[in-house]
Amino acid sequence: MKHLLKLLDLSKEEIIELLNMADQLKYELKHGIEHHHLKGKTLGCIFEKSSTRTRVSFETGMYQLGGFPIFLSSKDLQIGRGEPVQDTARVLSRYLDGIMIRTYAQSEVEDLARYGTIPVINGLTDFAHPCQILADLMTVREYKGKLEGLKMCFIGDGNNMMHSLIVGCLKVGMKVSVACPKNYRPAMEVLDFAATYGDAFMITDSPMEAAKDADVVFTDVWASMGDEGEIDLRRRAFEGFQVNDELMAVAKPDAMVQHCLPAHRGEEITESVLEAHADEIFDEAENRLHAQKAVLVKLMADKPQEPEEGENHLL
Ligand code: CP
Ligand code: NVA
Repeated sequence: MKHLLKLLDLSKEEIIELLNMADQLKYELKHGIEHHHLKGKTLGCIFEKSSTRTRVSFETGMYQLGGFPIFLSSKDLQIGRGEPVQDTARVLSRYLDGIMIRTYAQSEVEDLARYGTIPVINGLTDFAHPCQILADLMTVREYKGKLEGLKMCFIGDGNNMMHSLIVGCLKVGMKVSVACPKNYRPAMEVLDFAATYGDAFMITDSPMEAAKDADVVFTDVWASMGDEGEIDLRRRAFEGFQVNDELMAVAKPDAMVQHCLPAHRGEEITESVLEAHADEIFDEAENRLHAQKAVLVKLMADKPQEPEEGENHLL
């Protein structure tokens, strides 16, 4: 594993290895065990879109690993004035040890990796949000004790979150059902991937059908960053695609709710469901830190710092 561009590139084993490392790093942080695996290393964090969680968790994570993050807004970088990504990649590779980028086109992230010589991490594109899904899987495993065989459902837009959840959840052995309006279905590339999992995947335009007996209910905003101009159209299209008490009543009685945040109460999720599941949702947000630190260590440490036999503090 040289980069984290999208979950389609990772094997089940690689995903589980990252989740195990994330658990270990979380344990160490909570117990005051220093883990400076990236001492002296520098991560450039390019943001072409807004962020609270991704920015703060990557910056804090780098400090906790003994390294140094540099926040790079596209408003200030020459990339924002049209310098080609091919050149940016080659220049930044001469200064940095890794790049995290949040942008629009998935091709920009793939090009950074292609033309640069350092690890690239996708911090969200219009196509994928792999860091978020690693945190989501980590959280589900914490609460449920396993992933294999659980049913997850996603209600809403066929966007970056839905794409990465479909891929990540199927890869780790979960059953996946998604409900979206007909004009907001996920990308063909993702549907083709999901079709190889047969009955483990289901897509419908009925939220109730998707949520039936679900162990985990996911949702996300109706209008992602870049889509805000269509909000009125989307509010009409997504009416009924809401995670509310009525929908939760058809999921398993102990079903979890996950939301990557920011949430729009009264649109994709009601206040009452969000508050009833706040612990799970804010643990999910916290786990961004631990999951991303695992990615940083895996990609940027000179030698991956996996615990030796008998040294795993969790076991
Ligand atoms: N979930 C998530 O990526 O949040 P931010 O947009 O705040 O980074
Ligand atoms: N789908 C949302 C996720 C935000 C974290 C967006 O792209 O804006």
